[in-house]
Amino acid sequence: MLSIDVLIGEFDRALRAVAGVAEAARRSPAEGVAEADLAAGEREHAAALMRVNHVGEVCAQALYQGQALTARDAEARRALEQASREEQDHLAWSAERIRELGGRPSLLNPVWYAGSLAIGAVAGALGDRWNLAFLAETERQVEEHLTGHLETLPAADRRTRAVVEAMRADEARHRESAIQLGAAELPEGAKRAMRLASKVMTTVAYRV
Ligand SMILES: [Fe+2]
Ligand SMILES: [Fe+2]
Repeated sequence: MLSIDVLIGEFDRALRAVAGVAEAARRSPAEGVAEADLAAGEREHAAALMRVNHVGEVCAQALYQGQALTARDAEARRALEQASREEQDHLAWSAERIRELGGRPSLLNPVWYAGSLAIGAVAGALGDRWNLAFLAETERQVEEHLTGHLETLPAADRRTRAVVEAMRADEARHRESAIQLGAAELPEGAKRAMRLASKVMTTVAYRV
């Protein structure tokens, strides 16, 4: 049974995720990297991509939260919590970079958060193997996504690139750890549905 302390802690984290005031445990990979002199259009594009990534991290918070709460296996739960702490760093790093670029986080963050929490709870309810399967596939799609961003981000914007590259390396580890913990392989239909959902999210979040 969940204790009230746990629920309050989780609720606090939810509010932080949505409000974009998460604190990073690790320093931002952008630290010490010089700011580039970007044209206005480049700056806007980079800020919009970071807004998309930030939404992704808000969703990651909700997914991991939903899943860590429902995971049955202690080892799986520990791995989920560790990954979730790293996702918190991503959340803080991307929020900081949006600010530096003069952009703003998505206005729809509460909606993204609520939707992902529901999905995470459903995945969690299906049992550890499917929970982890969903997680591994999510991380794989995020990785692909970040690779796409590295192709379109301004070449000179090394600060943003440093953040995206570090996030991508973490997501790859999260995917591997989910597989090691015994993730099943999702059916093709489920992967396609996830791709579609992420397409909607990224298209909307680029603008709003
Ligand atoms: Fe992340
Ligand atoms: Fe991740």
